[in-house]
Amino acid sequence: MRIIFLGLAGAGKGTQAKVAAEHMGVAFVSSGDLFRFHQAEGTPLGLLAKGYMERGELVPDDVTIKMILERIGQEDAKKGFVLDGFPRTLRQAGALDRALKEGGIDAALYVKVREEELVRRLSDRVSCRRCGTPYQKELLDAQGVRKCPSCGGELYQRPDDQPEVVRRRLQVQRPEIASLVGYYASQGKLTEIEGEQGVEGVAREVSRALSKYASPAKTKRAIS
Ligand code: AP5
Ligand code: MG
Ligand code: ZN
Repeated sequence: MRIIFLGLAGAGKGTQAKVAAEHMGVAFVSSGDLFRFHQAEGTPLGLLAKGYMERGELVPDDVTIKMILERIGQEDAKKGFVLDGFPRTLRQAGALDRALKEGGIDAALYVKVREEELVRRLSDRVSCRRCGTPYQKELLDAQGVRKCPSCGGELYQRPDDQPEVVRRRLQVQRPEIASLVGYYASQGKLTEIEGEQGVEGVAREVSRALSKYASPAKTKRAIS
């Protein structure tokens, strides 16, 4: 079970990929979360990634590929994984294919959302500093929630969610996503997910797309 989520910044990759990984009992691997973890720890990789991320640009392929291949080589990813935010270039996709035996990934889910909606979502997003989970600020405020409902961690606004950085991220990501969509479509592995129907609706569509990879019991639970 090797699944990737494709989509522009704010499409809901993180929101959906995490839930899908939990339902299918496989590892959740987010390139953005890993880079933010390295930054928080002050590692050399974190320091290198920081400048690119703050400008809304892609971290160079070589270091990104190395980080992800090491991560999916770990024990918990042996039975499968859901990738959020990787691959993001054709070079990364090629490296992933070469690293995986038995014909590469099983499925690529492309979460499609209009750009006006992406900008709106990112300006309303807060993320957990500890576990990385994204939330809609407006909803948390309305419920009086001040800490991460999942782990109790501190909520913050990502520096790359400033409007000018969001614009740059979309500009950088647009052509890369288009190439990747073509790449996986030509392999018959792409499923488009309508990303503008609320979190639950999107999750149902994701579950349907993944049902052929899950055991019946798990699929039923994922849909209900
Ligand atoms: P990364 O952290 O991956 O950022 P991103 O791709 O720009 O995507 P986001 O995390 O912003 O959006 P998302 O699709 O996860 O949406 P979310 O679920 O949060 O990467 C950050 C940076 O790291 C990159 O810019 C780059 O520098 C570097 N990097 C990472 N991977 C790399 C790679 N492979 N190569 C090179 N560099 C790399 O949802 C967004 C908001 O909307 C949330 O508030 C959420 O609650 C809300 N929401 C979600 N779904 C819905 C819905 N259906 N309806 C309404 N609201 C929703
Ligand atoms: Mg994300
Ligand atoms: Zn948390």
